[in-house]
Order: sequence, then C-alpha cells, then structure tokens
Amino acid sequence: MERTLVLVKPDAVAKGCSGAILARLEATGAKLVAAKMLQIPRALAEKHYEAHRAKPFFAGVVGFITSGPVVAAVFEGEGAVAKVRKAMGATNPANAEPGTIRRDFAESIERNAVHGSDSPESAAIEISLYFKPEEIISR
Ligand code: TYD
Ligand code: MG
Repeated sequence: MERTLVLVKPDAVAKGCSGAILARLEATGAKLVAAKMLQIPRALAEKHYEAHRAKPFFAGVVGFITSGPVVAAVFEGEGAVAKVRKAMGATNPANAEPGTIRRDFAESIERNAVHGSDSPESAAIEISLYFKPEEIISR
C-alpha cells in the first residue's frame, strides 16, 4: 500500500493549526498510520532536503524546518502521495488553489505550512528518516 511522509511545519504548529491540517489530510481518504512531534536536528533536515542542497533556498529551508517543533506523520492508501499533494496545494501559497492547505495556512513560499513527499520512492526514503518500522501502525 502506498505511503507518504507529511510534516506540519513550524509555522503551522506555532499557530495551532496542526490538528486542522491533519484533519484535512484525513479527509482525503488517506489513512493516518503514524504521527509524532519532534524538533528536527540540523543533520536530519539536511538529509531530508538533500536533493535541494545546491539550490539558493537550501539554507533557508533547513533553517526554517529546524526553527521549532514539527508534527511528522505517515499517511497510507491508494494514491496517498498524490492525494496529499493535491490537498497541500502549490509550493508558493500565492499560486495555491482555494481550499488547499497552503492557500489557507501558509505565510510564504518558505513558511508554507506543510511538507508532503513527491513520489512513492522519495516517500520511502523520507519515512525511514523519521519513523522506525514499528512506529507505523497500519492494521
Ligand atoms: P520543493 O520540493 O520545490 O517544494 P514542495 O515542498 O512543494 O515539494 O521545495 C522544498 C521546500 O523548499 C518548499 O516547501 C519550501 C522551500 N522553498 C523555498 O523556500 N523557496 C523556493 O523558491 C522553493 C522552490 C522552495
Ligand atoms: Mg518537494
């Protein structure tokens, strides 16, 4: 069964929107199978955003994602990656469709409320960064 990693980012956690965001993701039909709050260590953030290491926004995104607590979660189900991405909306909230999480909760392209894996392959890698197999309960 397809799985995807979600992070409710520090901006949304600080505003008290974690529950609202998780509820919107549950409403997609994908199933919540793991969740925890953590403050991401810098080394983990750098691994998570490894693909963006050469980009001009790398230092900013690593600095932001480590700036406060996040809620990490795993959602599971047919098409879970795409369902979550659709509910999130575009990276830049200025371009995000009405009714999407980023349109309603994000502050800027950097402080954009939520992360969702972009493919089943990256989801598998990202999930393994945040969760041990026994922390995922999908019965
Ligand atoms: P990216 O993987 O392109 O977006 P998404 O989160 O929608 O998959 O970029 C990762 C994160 O990097 C993005 O959520 C916010 C940050 N970012 C910036 O701060 N500035 C930018 O110009 C881009 C493209 C991303
Ligand atoms: Mg991405």
